[in-house]
Amino acid sequence: MYSRIAGTGKYLPERVLTNADLEKMVETTDEWIKSRTGIEQRHIAADDEYTSHLAHKASLAALESAGVTPNDIDFVVVGTTTPDLIFPNVACLVQDKLGIKSCPAFSVEAACSGFIYSLVVADQFIRTGGARRALVIGAETMSRIIDWTDRETCVLFGDGAGAVVLEAAETPGIMYSTLGADGRYRDLLYASSGVSLRQREGAALRMKGNEVFKVAVKTLENLVDDVVEKNNLEKGQIDWLIPHQANIRIISATAKRLALPMERVILTVREHGNTSAASVPMALDTAIRDGRIKRGDLLLLEAFGGGFTWGASLIRY
Ligand code: ACO
Repeated sequence: MYSRIAGTGKYLPERVLTNADLEKMVETTDEWIKSRTGIEQRHIAADDEYTSHLAHKASLAALESAGVTPNDIDFVVVGTTTPDLIFPNVACLVQDKLGIKSCPAFSVEAACSGFIYSLVVADQFIRTGGARRALVIGAETMSRIIDWTDRETCVLFGDGAGAVVLEAAETPGIMYSTLGADGRYRDLLYASSGVSLRQREGAALRMKGNEVFKVAVKTLENLVDDVVEKNNLEKGQIDWLIPHQANIRIISATAKRLALPMERVILTVREHGNTSAASVPMALDTAIRDGRIKRGDLLLLEAFGGGFTWGASLIRY
């Protein structure tokens, strides 16, 4: 038994914050942001819009594209680092909004790698007969943990959600996945507060950008080398690279390592910045809907983020 992608969806909040808007908030320039990151704008959730709302809307689009109803789903997993509440987890909130009854529903906290981690969990459940059709979501309201006075981080992040319906199939589908983490890097990228720490001030994202950049590039190079080697692939054989959308320079370095021209890399970072766990499923949905990714194509999904955590999936679409 394997799993395959049956449908995809995404949702971006209506409000757009451009680089020009940020120029009025902190000492930065459109030129600096574009040249260092590739980002031109990001979407920001409305005050009464939470991660579960974004996840719900992306899920509706994914269910529709898969041609299934909420009743057909028997497993819900959400990659997020910005849940509405401590509990119930976001997957339970989405399950309730969709009217799905009594299937397992839980969240996976692995920062920007949260969607890949969730995809691998769902794939494992489907392969071992624990689920037939899973809703796998990456959803974030990063704007809620951004320090809007810190120019080194506030220009980078945005809100959004992406979702995939993953279903049982006799042929892959997901051909190979790999996950990893290294907690020694915890101080390079983190949110400054949490439940158990009981700090009174709200959490704010803190990052040593330059150091994150170096480890991200090296780790992703090793990650894609592993996927190519373990699957006896030639480097240029992958049809589409669907990377975590953090920074165009990190993405270009990974593409170069894979000997892929940028035309075969799905790039959406320009429109929404780094949306953490939401970025990979949103990029995937974008390229499926605009017709670039076709059935039968060989896809490589990869992500790297806080923890550090990382992961990749090789998929025959
Ligand atoms: N506008 C203008 N100037 C700025 C800004 C800004 N928004 N932010 C920093 N600067 C200044 C710095 O203060 C510094 O000034 P100085 O030279 O006078 O000291 C200068 O720009 C250069 O700063 P660096 O940090 O060296 O710039 P760098 O080229 O490394 O780019 C960036 C910074 C974009 C954050 C880069 O390091 C990066 O992308 N890192 C990866 C971070 C990331 O993507 N994290 C997300 C989570 S992990 C992941 O998803 C992969």
